[in-house]
Amino acid sequence: MKKRSSFTGKIGFVLAAAGSAVGLGNIWRFPYLAAKYGGGIFLLVYIILAVTFGFTLMTCEIAIGRKTGLSAIGAFSKLNQKFSFIGVIAAAIPVLILPYYSVIGGWVLKYFAAFVSGSGIAAAGDGYFNDFISGTGEPILWFALYIAITMVIVLFGVEKGVEKVSKIMMPILIVLLIFISVYALFTPGAMEGLVYYIKPDFSNFSIMTIVAAMGQLFYSMSLAMGIMITYGSYMKKDVNIESSVHNIELFDTGIAFLAGLMIVPAVFAFSGGDKSALSAGPSLMFVTLPKVFEHMFGGQIVGALFFLLVTFAALTSSISLAETVVSMIQDKLKIDRKITCLIVLAGVLLLGLPSALGYGVLGEIKILGMQFLDLFDFISNSLLMPIVALLTCVLIGFVLKPQTVIEEIETTAPFKAKGLFTVVIKYIAPVFLVVIFISSLLSAFGAISI
Ligand code: PFF
Repeated sequence: MKKRSSFTGKIGFVLAAAGSAVGLGNIWRFPYLAAKYGGGIFLLVYIILAVTFGFTLMTCEIAIGRKTGLSAIGAFSKLNQKFSFIGVIAAAIPVLILPYYSVIGGWVLKYFAAFVSGSGIAAAGDGYFNDFISGTGEPILWFALYIAITMVIVLFGVEKGVEKVSKIMMPILIVLLIFISVYALFTPGAMEGLVYYIKPDFSNFSIMTIVAAMGQLFYSMSLAMGIMITYGSYMKKDVNIESSVHNIELFDTGIAFLAGLMIVPAVFAFSGGDKSALSAGPSLMFVTLPKVFEHMFGGQIVGALFFLLVTFAALTSSISLAETVVSMIQDKLKIDRKITCLIVLAGVLLLGLPSALGYGVLGEIKILGMQFLDLFDFISNSLLMPIVALLTCVLIGFVLKPQTVIEEIETTAPFKAKGLFTVVIKYIAPVFLVVIFISSLLSAFGAISI
């Protein structure tokens, strides 16, 4: 049997997992959710969930992967034949995410091109973003370019190169995020936004705060879709799972926090205190940031650099999504990698088309009140991921018992948060997940308003 390749050590593992975790979820999705769902209260709920649920689920998935040495589908059937369907649902999630992820990736590319070609300031104009996404040719073109780049990298397997590049790019991205946040905070009116972003105001709390934070957690940490199981299967036995998870969490949450700091106060500054600007949703980053760059000395260059770095962060994530889909199809159909990549490329183009056109020619069509992009996002994050997470909790908490995972972790070192892990996986997580799932359904069908 071919020996399974593995990460060289803890740093290699943490960086690879963080590369998948840190992406558009942190920089594009987190800030708009934080803005929309209550600011400080969202942040607080998110952090509490990250250190409890996020920690427990990520630890669990990595341990399952390392224990079985297999990726999702195989791993679940090896653990328990009856639960093998969890792997199948988990595997379907990247198929749903990759297309719309690439649409947003295309938007980032478009903004990068705008800043490089010197029309970054135009991008700060009112209506620029709407004109762009309501078009037909352009959103498709940038989306197609983004997924083509992703698939070329997956095909030629230049992940090694990507890994090297991201080692340089990631620290620069962090420095740039700090720089832009500090700059944005000095814009008149931003302080009020800072307070909104970091001070929890319990009157802004609703069940949707938890639902949105939980969905974001799954998405951002690449959980409940088999990715971390696959990564765990490449992990060596002498790498400490618990501390690796802490590092990945810190990376992921830290970058999301900074991105929010860069965007949310700026929204206040540029909307003149108009609170409705906070609920802009997916467009938030693209509308607010160019305005920050417009006022900044050298903003054209900073803007170009920023969108380039975001493109890289996004690519490391979409590569991990695409790689999962490709290897799954390859394993199942036993076909050539080149052909598989072409199939995935064609499939993504087809599936992503409604999302790319959802603000333009297909703008009239709304399903459950959502545009296509929001709908794909909703199905994967708010419906399927809670189901996968819940089933994983039931399998590990009650069928196989938490000891299965604990033992795997303790092959390296004592599991410090064993108590927390056991309580969360058996009781807290399942109860929450059921509540979240039901609230998602109710909100989608209009029984409760978001
Ligand atoms: N975690 C990535 C992000 O926050 O952008 C998105 C993602 C990548 C989700 C890879 C799932 C995945 F498998």
